[in-house]
Amino acid sequence: MTDLTKDGTKINDSKKILKNTSLYEEGMKFLMNTYSRQPVVFEKAKMQYLWDVEGNKYTDFTAGYGCLNVGHSNSEVVLAIKKQVSKIIQPSNIYFNEPQVTLAKLLCNLTDFGEKVFFANSGAEAIEGAIKLARKYSTDKYNKDRYEIISFYNSFHGRTFGALSATAQVKKQSLFEPLLQGFRYAVLNDLDSVKANVNDNTCAILIEPIQGEGGINVTDEKFMYELRNLCTEKDILLILDEIQTGFGRTGSLFAYENYNIIPDILVVAKSLGGGMPIGAIISNNEISKAFVPGSHGSTFGGNAASCAAGVAVLNYFKKHDLIKKSEKIGNYLFSCLKNLQEKYINLIKEVRGRGLMLAIEFKFPIAGDLVNLALKNNLLLNKISDFTVRLLPPLVITKKDINNLVNFLNKTLKGFDENEKN
Ligand SMILES: Cc1ncc(COP(=O)(O)O)c(C=O)c1O
Repeated sequence: MTDLTKDGTKINDSKKILKNTSLYEEGMKFLMNTYSRQPVVFEKAKMQYLWDVEGNKYTDFTAGYGCLNVGHSNSEVVLAIKKQVSKIIQPSNIYFNEPQVTLAKLLCNLTDFGEKVFFANSGAEAIEGAIKLARKYSTDKYNKDRYEIISFYNSFHGRTFGALSATAQVKKQSLFEPLLQGFRYAVLNDLDSVKANVNDNTCAILIEPIQGEGGINVTDEKFMYELRNLCTEKDILLILDEIQTGFGRTGSLFAYENYNIIPDILVVAKSLGGGMPIGAIISNNEISKAFVPGSHGSTFGGNAASCAAGVAVLNYFKKHDLIKKSEKIGNYLFSCLKNLQEKYINLIKEVRGRGLMLAIEFKFPIAGDLVNLALKNNLLLNKISDFTVRLLPPLVITKKDINNLVNFLNKTLKGFDENEKN
C-alpha cells in the first residue's frame, strides 16, 4: 500500500515510520529528489545517538556517511565552533585566519610527508584540487600532454565533474557524459591492469585505501606497496583519497599508515570537520609549489569556523585516545559479525573491512529490507547495494551499542533464514 504526497510522490507505506509525516512530505515537495530518503526527520543528535522530531532515540551506524567520527555535535567541537563564530567566521582567503594556520600546521605534523595544505569545503572539491595540482605539477615539469590520471573500477571520488570522471562506475557516470578527458581505469589489486594503463602522459594514480561507496573493497598491502614503487619509478604522483578512511576510521589516524607507504598527495574531508563542511589536500613543498596565486582558490575553503572545528576534532582524538579505542571496538564488531556469518552461512556471503569501516555482503538482495527493519528498531544502517550493508558508526560507539545491533541482526537474520528454508 502506498500514500501519495500532494505532488504525487509516492511514500512507501512499508517504510513509513513517522506518525506525523508533514515535514517528510514537505521535504519531498521542496527538495530535489537526489537521495532515497528514509521516512524520518531528526531534530537533535549527541555522539552516537539521534532523536527524531517525535522524540524517538536512534543509534547511528552510518556517522553521516562517515563525517562524524568524533560523534554528532561533539561538545568539544561545538564549543570551538561557538567560540569561533562569535569572533570571526571568514575574513577572506587573501588573509590568513588563526584556526586555518593552526589546522594546516597540525595536519602537516600528523602526516609523515605533509608540508603544505590547501583547504576546500568538501571531499569532491578537495579531489578537484588534487587533480588540478597533480596535472599542474606534471605539465609544468614535463609537457602539456602529461595530464592523465589512473583511478580504479568501483571507486568513488565525488559528484563534481573531475571527481565524477575519476569515479569509475558506469551507473554514476553514464548520465552525465561527456566527462572530463584524461582518465583511465584499472582493476583494484591488479598491478598488470595498472601497468597496462600507464604511459608517458600519466601524471597520477588516484586510489582509496578502502573503497567505501564501491562496497568496502580493501586494497591489498602488497598491491599498494607495488603501486607506490611504480609511481616513484615513473615520477607519477600517488594520490590517496582518504576522505572516508581518514581520521581513525580504519584503526589508525590515516589508512596509509597500515600500508607502510606515504602518498604524494593526501586528500581528506568528511570527519575532519566533525560535521562542518571542510576538505583538504596535503602535499610536500616540491609538489605544492605548482600552485601559485591564481592557480586555485575557494571563497569559503579554510574558513575559520570549519577550521576551528577541525582543530577541535584533532585535539579530541589525542585527548581521548580515540584511535586506540576505536580499533579495539572495531575488532569486537568484526568478530561479532564473523560469528553471525558462521551462524547464517546460507545468508551471509562475506564480512569485510577494517577498523570501524565494515560491510556485510549477503547472498540474496536483502540489504534494503534489513536497513528498513533496522530503522523501525531505531538503528541507522546504510545499504551500499541490494546485497551489501555498510557499517560506519561514529568511533565513540560502545560495546553495548554493538551488542544491541548484533541482537537485532541475529533476530532478523533468523527470520530471513527461516523464510529462505521454507
Ligand atoms: C572516498 C570518497 N571520496 C570522495 C567523496 C566525496 O565527498 P563529498 O561528498 O564531501 O563531496 C566521498 C563521499 O562519500 C568519498 O567517500
